[in-house]
Amino acid sequence: MSKLWGGRFTKETNKLVEEFTASISFDQKLAKEDIAGSLAHVQMLGECGIIPLEDADKIKEGLLEIKTMVDQNEVEFLVEDEDIHMNIEKLLIEKIGPVGGKLHTGRSRNDQVATDMHLYLRTKTTELIKLLEDVQGALLVQAKENIHTLIPGYTHLQRAQPVSFAHHLMAYFWMFERDKERLIDSLKRVNWLPLGAGALAGTTFPIKRERVAELLGFETIYPNSMDAVSDRDFILEFLSIGSIIMTHISRLSEELVIWSSQEFQFVELDDSFCTGSSIMPQKKNPDVPELLRGKTGRTYGNLIGLLTVLKGLPLAYNKDLQEDKEGMFDTVETLEGSLMLLAPMIESMTVNKDIMRKAINNDFSNATDIADYLVRKGLPFREAHEVIGKIVLYSIQQQKFLLDLSFEEYQEFSSLFEEDIYEVLSPEHVVAVRNSFGGTSPEQVEQQIKLAESKLGK
Ligand code: ARG
Repeated sequence: MSKLWGGRFTKETNKLVEEFTASISFDQKLAKEDIAGSLAHVQMLGECGIIPLEDADKIKEGLLEIKTMVDQNEVEFLVEDEDIHMNIEKLLIEKIGPVGGKLHTGRSRNDQVATDMHLYLRTKTTELIKLLEDVQGALLVQAKENIHTLIPGYTHLQRAQPVSFAHHLMAYFWMFERDKERLIDSLKRVNWLPLGAGALAGTTFPIKRERVAELLGFETIYPNSMDAVSDRDFILEFLSIGSIIMTHISRLSEELVIWSSQEFQFVELDDSFCTGSSIMPQKKNPDVPELLRGKTGRTYGNLIGLLTVLKGLPLAYNKDLQEDKEGMFDTVETLEGSLMLLAPMIESMTVNKDIMRKAINNDFSNATDIADYLVRKGLPFREAHEVIGKIVLYSIQQQKFLLDLSFEEYQEFSSLFEEDIYEVLSPEHVVAVRNSFGGTSPEQVEQQIKLAESKLGK
């Protein structure tokens, strides 16, 4: 048997054309979805009397046998058969005879492939939500152990104000929480059924799209057949959410690389997540966070790639659309691999609490607090800011930090200073008094962790 569409042709396809246009090397990943879509379609064809019930049953049996073969890796997919849809249809006809040719009644590969992609992304999106929750769980484990661990908080990567390390980690929890929300929301649109749109204009057969939607668990049916076969917005949406997730992963990875450097030594990544150098025996490299940061690039590329494919495409189906797949698979696999590594890497890292705490002794990150102190004594904030600027400059010249200055020295700058200034300046106090909602005080961080746990259903 040659090409399924061979009737109109007088010549064999050029071999290079065959290879160039085939998608089977990558769309075989859609085999399960393709079979699931066909099973629902043929069930509906039988129920609607479009093909005899016994034919529908034979086709279903054949498809289930092929599914088993696919599961057991027994199918040899052929480039001559171009894509997953024709490979499976041809296998079916080989298995059950010409009756297999009835499967494609009232259907086109255009609505078929779109349906496969919807089914695939629905499964993957649901799995990715779980993986994001694992990362959130790991962040929570570390956060709970570090509510009272202090770390310099930065702006412009300059020491700004001390914060609870748990607070810093929890910032990422909420990024991943929004990512999850975005994925969940996208499922609404992933759950639109294209099948039944035919090639572009609908079909002459009395099909029941609602029945197929019900069998495949879709919530909505595309109301326009031309939109149904040419829409790839749901993939764009997935790729953009994926890019945002990778952006978050990349930012966290960058912090891990910085924190685990010799200069910082705030955390130590577990040996099992690092690699060595082939020449410098002393090295322990943070390859995993580096690669997570690096892999972010390809997910942006996949998004821009598909946006570019779609821009300027006339309705309805065009072969260009076949280019929607490899980037999507790549982003799915990149996200899966990244999230799977991130969770245990966070959970297993050692937090060097003492080094973090010592770092805070050696900076001016409590300067805002003396300003606030003078403000509470009645000085306008602008004036207080000026006074503290001078104190900081003086301290730098004296090679001292704010807690090293004597009471007499403070009095030189303002008579408003009293002995309690030293307590006010202690980093623990500085953190504890930032007790506004969402702030870094232990009380607020504890509340935040409770809220986070409730989001995870804990
Ligand atoms: N392999 C094709 C794709 O991925 C399936 C649809 C082919 N449709 C067509 N009219 N040639 O887009």
